[in-house]
Order: sequence, then structure tokens, then C-alpha cells
Amino acid sequence: MNIHNPNSLDAIDKATLVHPYTDLHAHDDKGPHIIERAEGIRLYDSDGRAFIDGVAGLWCTALGFGEDRLVKVAAEAMKNLSFSHVFSHRSHPAAIELADRLTKLAPDSISRAFFVNSGSEAVDAAIQIVWNYNNALGRPEKKKIIGRDRGYHGVTVAAGSLTALPYKQDDFDLPVNDRFLRVTCPHHYRYAEAGESEVEFSARLAQEVEDLILAEGADKIAAFIGEPIMAAGGVMPPPEGYWVAVAEVCRRHDVLVICDEVVNGFGRTGNWWGSETVGIQPDMMTVAKQLSSAYLPIGATMMSEEIYSVIAKHSPKNGVFGIGMTYGGHPVCCAVALETLKIYEDRDILGHVQAMTPHFQKRLKALGEHPLVGQARGEGLIGAVELVADKETREQFPPAMKAAPTLYNHVAEHGVLCRPLPGDAMGICPPMIVTESEIDEIFDAIEKGLDSAHTALTAS
Ligand SMILES: Cc1ncc(COP(=O)(O)O)c(C=O)c1O
Repeated sequence: MNIHNPNSLDAIDKATLVHPYTDLHAHDDKGPHIIERAEGIRLYDSDGRAFIDGVAGLWCTALGFGEDRLVKVAAEAMKNLSFSHVFSHRSHPAAIELADRLTKLAPDSISRAFFVNSGSEAVDAAIQIVWNYNNALGRPEKKKIIGRDRGYHGVTVAAGSLTALPYKQDDFDLPVNDRFLRVTCPHHYRYAEAGESEVEFSARLAQEVEDLILAEGADKIAAFIGEPIMAAGGVMPPPEGYWVAVAEVCRRHDVLVICDEVVNGFGRTGNWWGSETVGIQPDMMTVAKQLSSAYLPIGATMMSEEIYSVIAKHSPKNGVFGIGMTYGGHPVCCAVALETLKIYEDRDILGHVQAMTPHFQKRLKALGEHPLVGQARGEGLIGAVELVADKETREQFPPAMKAAPTLYNHVAEHGVLCRPLPGDAMGICPPMIVTESEIDEIFDAIEKGLDSAHTALTAS
């Protein structure tokens, strides 16, 4: 690739493309890493280098790349009905069949699906539905939503108001108003008090939720939202008993529980749903990403029959239930998502995740011995290492040293792309079709990357 050629992809990218979640200033020098094609779980860049996709794209490419069944279904669906909407009583078979399959797969508490195009939209619609639900019930004050520090729920103005990470909120004037509250991140390694057990930490955090509800007034708090296992904020499985205790507090105060399953859903944590893994039944849940194995954009806001019946009864007041995106329930996306779910079942992807989990977790936990790693943690086929400058004190590297991006670069040298995350964590989340020998390739590369990153970080 000739980077001085103004017609090169590199030069055109720098001149025209605005990159999300990128240091735009550094991009002028650094330029793009251009991925040209992919197959199985491997990506190939414009310099002909191959990489294992160690974080499944953005936690989404469950079935890897080049899955013929999905390509075929997409082409057929596009030819048959390239577009039809589901507004104003209109419908089409793919949306109907997908809603049916998805609600059957969902926890027993969930019975309805509203289609959107992304995880952010799924969360945004969940927030609007919660507000609409409380208006319908004549509780106009019951609107506040509790999220957690380091929770990730997307980027729209409302979903971004719940994404409690500085890079999303600072200088974007979020949260947009006082309806979005925050409680402590349930990450025992970093936020527990000295000597506090996981169970004690969970009880303290559940009490914090209850105290907040009481301080604000239960008549003001509408919902609690969280990822069953936090992902983009640093991959943090909750401490023992956390979700059961928090859900119990919410029930007691008539606060809805929303599980954001955008990363956890469809087998990632070793069960179909993260909510199952943490032992609760949500009132609402949001899904996207692995719903279509990332072959096309689609998500859904899912809800209980109770919530649906309230908003349905209320909808004549304004003539319609007033949320809907042109492409929500797009027939081609629905057909691909439906086929994705069929593949998960035909190939027993859940059984495969469960079979691969012990080896993945064994190799992951072994990284905890490395001098650079404070904690190695995970659940199912998702995990992270948290980097520290000092294992004893758990002190982190100064932010300017960019420890996690440094590790990312060193691991990439060995042919695996992972993802640097907040809190100096690096996420590992391969496509769910990963084999045992590919898991070894991934962790062999991470071990080598840790060694050279350790040398680089401690030398400077
Ligand atoms: C838990 C969770 N919710 C919502 C989102 C937003 O999804 P999207 O990027 O598709 O808008 C993400 C994205 O990573 C996520 O991890």
C-alpha cells in the first residue's frame, strides 16, 4: 500500500471518513487498519496479514465469516421482498416468524418483541416504553432510570445517558437530564472494600440501590438497567448473588428490571441469556449483535405481557404507539436473524459454547499469573485481563501510558485482534464457533503479547 498516493484507500480514508470511537487527531498520523476480507474466524488486512478476530468484531460475529446459509437467505429475501415495513398494521412473514421464535427462546417473563436496527436503538426504545408505560398507568413522576458506573448501553442521546463512561458522556452533555441515575459498578476486584467478600459486596450494592430508591422516592424510579455480565466497560462478571439481590429490591419498590442482553444474549455466557446465567427473570430486555451474527443490523426491545398490555391499552389515546424506525423489522434483516437462530439450534451452538468454556476459562485464568495482569476474569466465552503496574497494590499505569492499547498492539503482532477497554482491561470474546485449537492460538498470542508489552511498559 502506498500511503503517499492521494488515491490510496489510506489517504482517502484520512481525508473523508469520520471514525467512531477513534482518536480522530491521532488518526491523521496513524491512518486506518483496513480489513479487506474474512473467513471462518480470521480477518485479512490490506497488507495481506491474517488475524484471528479475538473479540468477534464488536462482540457480534457469533458464527464467524462466510456462512453460506446466511448469504443464501439474505439474497433470497432481498429478491423476494427487499423492503416492507411493519407500521400501521402492516406485517410480513419474516418479522412474524422472528418475533415468534425470539419470544419462545426468551425467558418466560418475556413475550413480545419490537424490532429496531441496533443495540442503542433497542435501549432507546426500552427507555421510551418505560416512560410510556408509566404515563399509561397515571404515574407521570415515575420516570428515573438507574444504571451503573461503567455500564455500556449505546450512544443515542437517551441510551448514551445510561452509558456511564467518561468518553461517552463528558463533552457530549450527557446524561441529557436528571432522569438518569448511577450506582456503583459491581466489580469486586476494583470496588470492594478491604476484606469484603463477594456476597457482602453484593449486599452492600443492593442496599445502595434501595437507598437511592428511598432517597428519590419509589414513585420517581421507573427502572433499573444493566448488562447481566458487563462487557464494553471492562468485562466484569457480577459478584455472587448481586443480580438476585438487586432484582429483589426492584420488585419490592415496583421498579422494572431491564437486562441489556446486547452482548450477553444468544449463548455468549454459556446460557441463552445472561439473565439466566445470573439467575433472574427481567421485565424487559434488549438484544442485537449476535441476533443476526452481525450479518445485517437488527435488534429488538423485548418486554413482558404486562408491559405490553398496558402500552397497548394506552395507544388509542394518541392514535398509535408512537415509536418506529423505517428499517425496524426490515424483511431481509429479519430473515437473516431467523436463519441465524436456526443455525444456533441446528448446530447446537449453545452446547458448543458450553463444551469450549472450560478450556477458554482455564487459559484465561492462567493469564492471571502474569506480572502485568491484576485479574483475569470471564464467563462462558467472554473474558478480560485487567492490567496493573503493581500486582500487590493493584495500582494502574498512568493513563498516558495507554497500557491496554499497548497490549492490543503487541497481541496484534502475534496475529490476534482483541479490544482495549476502560479500566486498562483487554477484552477477549472470539466468535462462538471457535475451536479448542483456535482458543490455544488466541491465548498463545496473548501470552507472547503480554511478555513484550510488559517489557515495553516497564521500560518506559
Ligand atoms: C450492552 C450493550 N448495549 C448496547 C450497545 C449498543 O449497541 P449498538 O452499538 O449496536 O448501538 C452495546 C454495544 O456494544 C452494548 O455492548
